Amino acid sequence: MGEDGHVSEAFDAVDVISAKRDREELSDAQIDWVIDAYTRGVVAEEQMSALAMAIYLNGMGPREIARWADAMIRSGERLDFSGLSRPTSDKHSTGGVGDKITLPLAPIVAACGVAVPQLSGRGLGHTGGTLDKLESIPGWRASLSNEEMLAQLEDVGAVICAAGTGLAPADKKLYALRDVTGTVSCVPLIATSIMSKKIAEGTGSLVLDVKVGSGAFMKELGQARELAETMVRLGTDAGVKTVALLTNMETPLGLTAGNALEVRESVEVLEGGGPPDVVELTLALAREMVAGAGRDDVDPADVLADGRAMDVWRRMIRAQGGDPDAPLPTARETHLVLAPADGVLVQLDALAVGVAAWRLGAGRARKEDPVQAGAGVEIHAKPGAVVRGGEPLLTLHTDEPERFDRALESLEGGFLIAPEGSRPDLPPIVIERVS
Ligand code: URA
Repeated sequence: MGEDGHVSEAFDAVDVISAKRDREELSDAQIDWVIDAYTRGVVAEEQMSALAMAIYLNGMGPREIARWADAMIRSGERLDFSGLSRPTSDKHSTGGVGDKITLPLAPIVAACGVAVPQLSGRGLGHTGGTLDKLESIPGWRASLSNEEMLAQLEDVGAVICAAGTGLAPADKKLYALRDVTGTVSCVPLIATSIMSKKIAEGTGSLVLDVKVGSGAFMKELGQARELAETMVRLGTDAGVKTVALLTNMETPLGLTAGNALEVRESVEVLEGGGPPDVVELTLALAREMVAGAGRDDVDPADVLADGRAMDVWRRMIRAQGGDPDAPLPTARETHLVLAPADGVLVQLDALAVGVAAWRLGAGRARKEDPVQAGAGVEIHAKPGAVVRGGEPLLTLHTDEPERFDRALESLEGGFLIAPEGSRPDLPPIVIERVS
């Protein structure tokens, strides 16, 4: 403490910003200080945005990345699941259109004897948030105390809830800042943001679903691979068994994008139906999670087929106040998008569909905006399907019909129909595994 009563700071924010601007490596002490001082409000928002932009432009090396993640973990609390009677495994997706996988995945993995602590977020922009989806179930509540979460994990085996404010608070501030300063899509910043939360959460093993394609943060395979490798290294070095799957996000997952629409589709999967791509990816991730937790004696496909996963889903929803039998909300208005010609659908762009669902009211532009439970896009034909001119390709759902025009604008050029007999080159759902 100085004579004037102020805590003297170890560094000056301007020196740290200038060092990164000039492509120097930040020292461990500089990183520890800047994250701590930003969390305390000593480093101002405009200073952190300048530093984030310098990192965006000049990158960080492996040592800096590891230290940055560690400093963000130390900015808050760490959860401890070691008292649970079963091993834990978690999944994180980098976000995509129609990505409802967490909903069927958590109960499937729990039914295999693995505890799934799934701390999730709300959607921002064109990718939906898991909590927004579940909140379309009447009565379901996202906020649980740490004690409630632990009790539900022990009793039901799966919990999907809002991450408390105590986990990596530095990331909470920094992510909000990056969102408004054009510094989100940067491998070191994304990797440390995601992994600081997952490591602080205390899961024993982790599976990362890194999306690649038009609807994802990472549009290119090389960039997605770099992100996956960076995150796997951070997890492994922190003692969390971590693997990543690079998965296709050129086209939406499944046949729905929108909150209640996606819950309905997830329930169909748990009933033994659902779109093949959703089932395939859910089971691929479930197998990785179960193996990571050391329970590869159980096949996730079996607990899905015999209804045990559905039982866990119902208990999981009820434990958080939801009624799994209540009818899901539906939008007041619908609008059909028709195929303009006969042929083969060769492209249905994930970003176009995601933006359409968002503009229909399924997503929010600002953190504080409400979302419509029933809004979104229902997909009637996926790439590879033969379509007839005049038949429905998509149904748009919203409570506010004045939203249709803007949604239709985003779909212009978002699908392509080639002459009959064309064979589109369709990438597999799981493109690569990184461990
Ligand atoms: N999700 C996160 O939690 N952080 C990022 O930086 C990007 C996606």
